[in-house]
Amino acid sequence: MHLLTSFAVALAAGSTALAAPLERRAAKVNELVGYAAGTTGGGSGTGTTVTTCAALTAAAKVGGVIKINGVLAGCGIIKVISNTSILGVGAASGLTGSGFQVRLATNVIIRNLKLSVAPEGKDLIDIDESTKVWIDHMDLASVGLTGDKDTYDGLLDAKHGSDFLTFSWIKFHDHWKGSLVGHSDNNAAEDTGKLHVTYHHNLFENVNSRLPSVRFGTAHIYSSCYISGLTSGINSRMGAQVFVEETSFTNTNLAIVTNLDSDLPGSANEKNNLYANSPTRITQKGTYTPTYAYTVDPAASACAIARASAGVGIVTF
Ligand SMILES: *[C@@H]1O[C@H](CO)[C@@H](O)[C@H](O)[C@H]1NC(C)=O
Repeated sequence: MHLLTSFAVALAAGSTALAAPLERRAAKVNELVGYAAGTTGGGSGTGTTVTTCAALTAAAKVGGVIKINGVLAGCGIIKVISNTSILGVGAASGLTGSGFQVRLATNVIIRNLKLSVAPEGKDLIDIDESTKVWIDHMDLASVGLTGDKDTYDGLLDAKHGSDFLTFSWIKFHDHWKGSLVGHSDNNAAEDTGKLHVTYHHNLFENVNSRLPSVRFGTAHIYSSCYISGLTSGINSRMGAQVFVEETSFTNTNLAIVTNLDSDLPGSANEKNNLYANSPTRITQKGTYTPTYAYTVDPAASACAIARASAGVGIVTF
């Protein structure tokens, strides 16, 4: 409560006060941390730059380093193979009316891209049966909380035994179904012991639910900002375990919940979070914490840091 109050006062004091939380950022913006550690994608070469959907589709079949320059429209679903990096050039590159599918792949990096409005019924990024995937500094959105919630699927989903994933510095916004980890209560055989995901320094704003939803898996969520999650925030279910720390929730219903919409509950461990008009419902308290090294920023700074340093144009290629 003290932190929240002092932060609100700092905000009210105007732009000079806003700089204060940013100065306290300890985490590096250009660093792979967490479960996807060791992912190298297409390596460090210059790679191929593409400016059309046809060129992107062709390059994706070969893999390596692929740079997208500009906003490409209507590419459909681009299949991403192992040992690939897909990187946005500058501060305004991405895809619209398109999405990525990472399937039966390992060692994939996708960074600095603005993706909006997947093809109907599809995810913007869909990760299936894949390992070592780092999604970083992205802007992921559709048209907002309007129309049928099932018109589009998820912004960033991971399913079918995928594992060792890091989703960092991403702006998830204006969408119904955010990030689904584990797609079905009936998929224990494939998912149990898999689906380890690190989420850090993300902004979830005006996304209805699944922030994320985790079945069977393990999610570490830290130094993130949640604003206006209408239905539910972090949903731990079917024996999943989550550890949520140094995260700020504002106007987010069921900011952390462990017994929503599944046959069995999950567990949640939580530490140093701020909840403003954001109730939790933790029916099963967990003890999970990760064993890797990482640097947190305080919950009171999480929103200012995510607004300033998540999304596109921060790390550039
Ligand atoms: C990915 O790269 C590694 C290291 O060079 C190589 O051993 C592996 O075969 C590659 N995988 C695929 C599917 O190309």
